[in-house]
Amino acid sequence: MAKVHITDLVLRDGHQSLIATRMRTEDMLPICGKLDQVGFWSLEAWGGATFDACVRFLREDPWERLRKLRKALPNTRIQMLLRGQNLLGYRNYSDDVVRAFVQKSADNGVDVFRVFDAMIDLRNLKVSIETVKAAGKHAEGAICYTTSPVHDIPHFVGLAKGLTEMGCDTIAIKDMAGLLTPYTAYDLVCAIREATHLPIHTHSHATSGLAHMTHMKAVEAGATIIDTCVGAFAEGASHPTTQSLVAALAGTAYDTGLSLPLIEEISAYFKEVRKKYWQFESAFTGTDTRVLINQVPGGMISNLANQLKEQGAIDKMDAVLEEIPRVREDLGYPPLVTPTSQIVGTQAALNVLTGERYKSVTNEVKLYLQGRYGKAPGHVNEEVRKLAIGNLDVTTCRPADLIADELDKLRNEIEGVAKSDEDVLTYAMFPEIGKTWLQERAAGSLKPEQLLPRAHPSRTAVRAMPPTNSRSRCTARPITSSYRAAAAATPPSAPISCRSTVSRKKCWSNR
Ligand code: CO
Repeated sequence: MAKVHITDLVLRDGHQSLIATRMRTEDMLPICGKLDQVGFWSLEAWGGATFDACVRFLREDPWERLRKLRKALPNTRIQMLLRGQNLLGYRNYSDDVVRAFVQKSADNGVDVFRVFDAMIDLRNLKVSIETVKAAGKHAEGAICYTTSPVHDIPHFVGLAKGLTEMGCDTIAIKDMAGLLTPYTAYDLVCAIREATHLPIHTHSHATSGLAHMTHMKAVEAGATIIDTCVGAFAEGASHPTTQSLVAALAGTAYDTGLSLPLIEEISAYFKEVRKKYWQFESAFTGTDTRVLINQVPGGMISNLANQLKEQGAIDKMDAVLEEIPRVREDLGYPPLVTPTSQIVGTQAALNVLTGERYKSVTNEVKLYLQGRYGKAPGHVNEEVRKLAIGNLDVTTCRPADLIADELDKLRNEIEGVAKSDEDVLTYAMFPEIGKTWLQERAAGSLKPEQLLPRAHPSRTAVRAMPPTNSRSRCTARPITSSYRAAAAATPPSAPISCRSTVSRKKCWSNR
């Protein structure tokens, strides 16, 4: 039986899931020495949202962050999450941009590339995986786990075989909404192992409360790398706690061999760091089992609630949550992950708000129905397709085959303020905010968004208390959609009522 390895997510998915991806590089670097000593299989540290937040909110150079982390973590693999042909953006890029981006990421410090595609159309992963391998780096092909009438174990095994043939070094099972149940994980891992013999790496959000059990059963079935997050940024919308899994496996054939006291020191550091970002705390800090029914990931729900609130239509939240599975069915059951989660969510909201399904169709849904994101996993509703795009051609080739090389064009567009290929790629990922960022950098006027001062002393005192189980008590009650919207839109200085048995102050202690 193989020893189990751990990828820690605190530098990427942990703060993305709990504090809207706001952790600054200055708060990562001081603890890197200790993180580097632990012996993690890898540290996930880079991805679409961290790149976006660096440029948009923190006004940092994401490439500079990567170089600094590389230097501070000489003994640990740095892992990134890459959206295949979408890279870190929201559209398909030309092959020359994909190649340049992967090469520059490798040059600046990424060792492990976890590559996924929202449609799980393997053609969208081809060029990035090829480039990762050509750069001598580790390619991890990810299967986005979801449930639908077309997603069963043979379907996922077929994808795993495809990823193996493309030259991947490991297979990740990426369960972004926490839908994977322990016994399904067991069967899935067994089936994939039988089909591919590649090491299996599991990623399962703790949202529904299943993830610890899911990892355990996956390990028993032969998964050898699991994703966890140090306690201070774990659980809820994030991931199972690293310390808990290390303890659970200690003394068994799956022992991770990691030092609990060292990880506790790291966790204590991040516990203090988290307080600095209290204004960004997610409303979803506890277990939320509703995802098991509506399959809508927590991050997507909070986005939707914000959108509806801006439209003054928060009372339609439940109707939108009911419409999401219907739109997903019409589109052939894409997994709900960036960018398909936004595509499905926005169209569902439109269908409800206009009072007529597909009366108004977003540009993204039109492109989707033209095949521009790739092949849908199931059958697309032809009536809806006709309604949305009429007699327009539907692409059946790999979508990027229709995109001419564009790196030179991008270079020309941003000439003057871009000082390097990395700068050009920043602009390519986020044309508007990337350009503003480069211009402001040239003008010396980059300013990070403001962090609100820490909460007043009495609240700080309560927050400094050791963790209690108040978090689960606070969130155990039903959360209404209006509560969610209010909580998402306002910093936790506004009164958010908890059940009378738990004082509000106690609620804050773990937020
Ligand atoms: Co994740």
